[in-house]
Amino acid sequence: MSHFVAPSLLAADFRHLDKAIELVNTSDADWFHLDVMDGRFVPNISFGQFIVEQIAERAEKYVDVHLMIEDPGRYIESFARAGASGITVHAEACPHLHRVIQQIREAGVKAGVALNPHTPVSQLENVIEELDVVVVMTVNPGFGGQKFIYQSIPKIRQLADLIAVQNSRALIEVDGGIGLQNAQKVLEAGARVLVAGSAVFGADDPADVITRLKAIDAN
Ligand code: DX5
Ligand code: ZN
Repeated sequence: MSHFVAPSLLAADFRHLDKAIELVNTSDADWFHLDVMDGRFVPNISFGQFIVEQIAERAEKYVDVHLMIEDPGRYIESFARAGASGITVHAEACPHLHRVIQQIREAGVKAGVALNPHTPVSQLENVIEELDVVVVMTVNPGFGGQKFIYQSIPKIRQLADLIAVQNSRALIEVDGGIGLQNAQKVLEAGARVLVAGSAVFGADDPADVITRLKAIDAN
């Protein structure tokens, strides 16, 4: 089964956002990954609907919006309107997770839930059937350029088992510290979507890194 590559624009040069968008559009990448941070759920503040809309208008690929915000249910509608193809919320930010997932689906976009490194896979047992994507955070969310947490590998396997047992369509997405040095390992564990920020935009030739991430054969 082939996998998807989702460059995170957080690591792009925002003075030349059009170039970063063009680069992803013309590369072997499959998705745009957009990191929304509110300075509450995570310490950092990034960007909101306005920037997502600017990017989505020009994106020719799936727009994957990762909401690292408190009370994300309040904003599902507006991010869907801004042009998201899929919206991911954090399990830790949602006391009524099932309801928020329904809201995402009613907004007509793909539904994702992200798990912080300390959050067990078992949290998803009763919602996995409703999900298109599960994001395994392989760093603590909030910043790009952090070190990959190796304990994530058995967690990806556990999640792959849960998905198989419940016959869910959910794709496993990994986010944080992903690059050419560990992509093969996470794919072998069961990941299907590779988010990469600094590994792509920090490279001399970002398109080449995308091509190489896409070409990894994990079977
Ligand atoms: C982390 C974000 C990531 C981040 C990944 O909080 O969710 O998507 O941009 O960046 P790298 O690949 O540099 O870890
Ligand atoms: Zn992200």
